[in-house]
Amino acid sequence: MTEQNNSLHSIKRYTLTAALPYTNGPVHIGHLAGVYVPADIYARYLRLNGKDVAFICGSDEHGVPITIRAKKEGISPQEIVDKYHAIIKKSFEDFGISFDNYSRTSSAIHHETASEFFKKLYDDGKFIEETSEQLYDTEAKQFLADRFVTGTCPKCGNENAYGDQCEKCGSSLNATDLINPKSAITGNTPSKKATKHWYLPLQDYEIWLRKWIVEGHKNDWKTNVLGQVKSWLDDGLRPRAVTRDLDWGIPVPVKGAEGKVLYVWFDAPIGYISSTKEWAKRTGKDWEPYWKSNDTKLVHFIGKDNIVFHCIIFPAMLKAEGSYILPDNVPANEFLNLEGEKISTSKNWAVWLHEYLEDFPNKQDVLRYALTANAPETKDNDFTWKDFQARNNNELVAIFGNFINRVAVLTQKYYQGVVPQAHTFTDADENALEQLQQFPAVIGNAIERYRFREASQELMNLARLGNKYLADAEPWILIKTDAKRVETIMFVALQIAAGLAVLVAPFLPFTSVKLKKLLNINPAKLGDSEFITWNGIAENQELLKTGHQIGVPELLFDKIEDEAVQKQLDKLDATKKVNKSENQVLEPQKATVSFDDFAKLDLRVGTILEAEKVAKTKKLLKLKVDVGLEIHTIISGIAENFTPEEVIGKRVSVLINLAPRAIKGIESQGMILMTETPNGTLAFIEPENNAVENGMKIS
Ligand code: 2FM
Ligand code: ZN
Repeated sequence: MTEQNNSLHSIKRYTLTAALPYTNGPVHIGHLAGVYVPADIYARYLRLNGKDVAFICGSDEHGVPITIRAKKEGISPQEIVDKYHAIIKKSFEDFGISFDNYSRTSSAIHHETASEFFKKLYDDGKFIEETSEQLYDTEAKQFLADRFVTGTCPKCGNENAYGDQCEKCGSSLNATDLINPKSAITGNTPSKKATKHWYLPLQDYEIWLRKWIVEGHKNDWKTNVLGQVKSWLDDGLRPRAVTRDLDWGIPVPVKGAEGKVLYVWFDAPIGYISSTKEWAKRTGKDWEPYWKSNDTKLVHFIGKDNIVFHCIIFPAMLKAEGSYILPDNVPANEFLNLEGEKISTSKNWAVWLHEYLEDFPNKQDVLRYALTANAPETKDNDFTWKDFQARNNNELVAIFGNFINRVAVLTQKYYQGVVPQAHTFTDADENALEQLQQFPAVIGNAIERYRFREASQELMNLARLGNKYLADAEPWILIKTDAKRVETIMFVALQIAAGLAVLVAPFLPFTSVKLKKLLNINPAKLGDSEFITWNGIAENQELLKTGHQIGVPELLFDKIEDEAVQKQLDKLDATKKVNKSENQVLEPQKATVSFDDFAKLDLRVGTILEAEKVAKTKKLLKLKVDVGLEIHTIISGIAENFTPEEVIGKRVSVLINLAPRAIKGIESQGMILMTETPNGTLAFIEPENNAVENGMKIS
């Protein structure tokens, strides 16, 4: 085992992994804020600094959620993963997530790599083989593990815990731990059936894990991650099954395991390795140093629900295998909520990346910025469309964009776009330039400590500095009286703009490209003498040389109007309505009544002849209803759903012998029977056959 300690070795390369998204749905803003945007900022930052980086991801195409989704959509699991893999891959590309490789776990290279990994552990005797009673759905003829079974979490009492994990308290569970388990396929209470599986004896790794993480990383891992790891270790680890009785997944590559597949959480993290292999093959590199060399820094970017898998189970697998390095850090984020509610793929409560890209074309950076500035790094955070709009209008447009626009427009206006000469620097000039030089280290340090939120705010502070410098110096006023001084002011402002163009790149890559084009810088490659590097900003007071020609002014950002935000809020409202109707809970059945009691009700078919609103009420209509025998006056609470005109002529079902009672001073002689539609409005119970006449009995 090549245990790693980067403080003792200089880092030669970085292997950065971002959680492989499940292909049971598209990617949403929660995934982006928690995993992909921070990982991408980190990867871009390292590359900008000339580091050797493998930024690895791919689709997680096995596991129960995919088979459940396939059943729901009436297509095969392969069709499901093909559909969502394509959507996810494209949306990541369009959003500018700069993976070096995006693979998929249904690929041959992955099947091979995961099978070999299992086989090695099997051959080395690292598993326990055991036959035990597992939950079984006799109707579906299926073992119930993972998401195929729900029940009450034994730790926190959450009634909707899954067979592998409770999403409320984060506990990792075995299906047999659940109290009152229920099959997610049929809703039945499962029975038990004996089956053989292979288990990784996690308890054997407990002492080692404690030493490596709780002691070894107490100062550099995030407290939320350390907290979860410590609590699992304190609870005591148990053997964890790494195989399943399912027909979707990687077949267990040993004799006597027919019909069994690898547990998805066994194969998925190995997906990082197979994706690296795929990348290396494509680019003519050697994959092994990226996973097996002590001078490689491995970082896993994940959400908090993945902590146990990346900090306990996968490291135990790597340790058992023996030739791999371990992660240097696992900077897991908390969750992002949406407009105050938990994001949910199944409830469609999300902002889907591919839809965002359609609704806001060319605004990738606005979302990247809003998600970073409000990243759920230490606690769950809330995404609201109002905040998104404010981040754009008040920060990107009003601060960043405004500064750049002033610089570009004034440089064009005064000097036809040519960087002027600086003369004597005042204290304000020196101060601005000195501050600019500190930003690469300040922002870089924050990024290296995985504090992307802080880093993004420092970046905005640099734009603020530029704005304030210009506002204080007032070149637009001085131009009339002291043209020479204005040359120095614009020279300084242009240096800040150039610094921003480089430092913004990890965060807002599209903006950085636009800004570099605007300033006519960095067309060359890193290493060329004209190229402005991250650290070069700290060393050089003349990023843009006197005489350098900049490009034509162009707005970097534009305002997001209320209508665009309202459209998104309306979309969420529509989702809420659909969910409400789908989840409508039927009232439980009332106590039974005797036939004699039922026979006392006189129910008849009738027709509404007249209708008018009852004065000073919102809900009531006064109806005259022909019920065959006579005309009844009935006061009905339907005015919020129907106008009087709408109901005249309606065929209805009427309880005609309800004891008369006075409502708003009018005697009501019966009741019209109504039901409720899924979206909460009322509907009449009408006789289907038109030949049915008024007064006919309903029984
Ligand atoms: O939680 C998830 O979406 C999982 N598909 C993450 C897998 S990460 C890994 F290890 F591959
Ligand atoms: Zn729980």
